[in-house]
Amino acid sequence: MMMMMMMTMGKSNSMVSTRSSFVILFVMALIILCQPYEAQGIFEKYHVNITNDLGVGYVLKVHCKSKNDDLGWKLLDNGKFYEWSFHMNFLHTTLFFCKMEWSDIHSGSFVVFDANRDMVRCDTVCFWSARQDGLYGYSDVHTQKTDYYFKWSS
Ligand SMILES: *[C@@H]1O[C@H](CO)[C@@H](O)[C@H](O)[C@H]1NC(C)=O
Repeated sequence: MMMMMMMTMGKSNSMVSTRSSFVILFVMALIILCQPYEAQGIFEKYHVNITNDLGVGYVLKVHCKSKNDDLGWKLLDNGKFYEWSFHMNFLHTTLFFCKMEWSDIHSGSFVVFDANRDMVRCDTVCFWSARQDGLYGYSDVHTQKTDYYFKWSS
């Protein structure tokens, strides 16, 4: 598709009217808009970092997804963290949510990255700490001041 457009543009370069240049620009913009966000290297990169702070002997199970990605189940031992990165999509609608489980009885499903909520809050990394009384979200690893707190739903 891209190749064909390049060839067309090259061949008739001198004859391209302003109007058809606009058409070509419009088509290119459409192609960029339709790319999945992973391919858009030009958009800002964010990280999500989830740490198991449940205590000795507690394993945290995490399953994170977005519309385009299923990151699969991860098992985190106490004190371990899980981090991934992604690029913001063109329309700033990037959203990741995670299902978490621990100790067979506690679980919850949480939005760990929402462009509207976190684009400014998380400079580059959104940190989450899973503790026995809930999930704590903060954006500054040094102060660990809690911005968000969610209880386990069971
Ligand atoms: C993830 O967060 C933990 C703190 O909860 C930190 O120790 C670790 O270095 C972070 N990982 C990365 C890759 O920044």
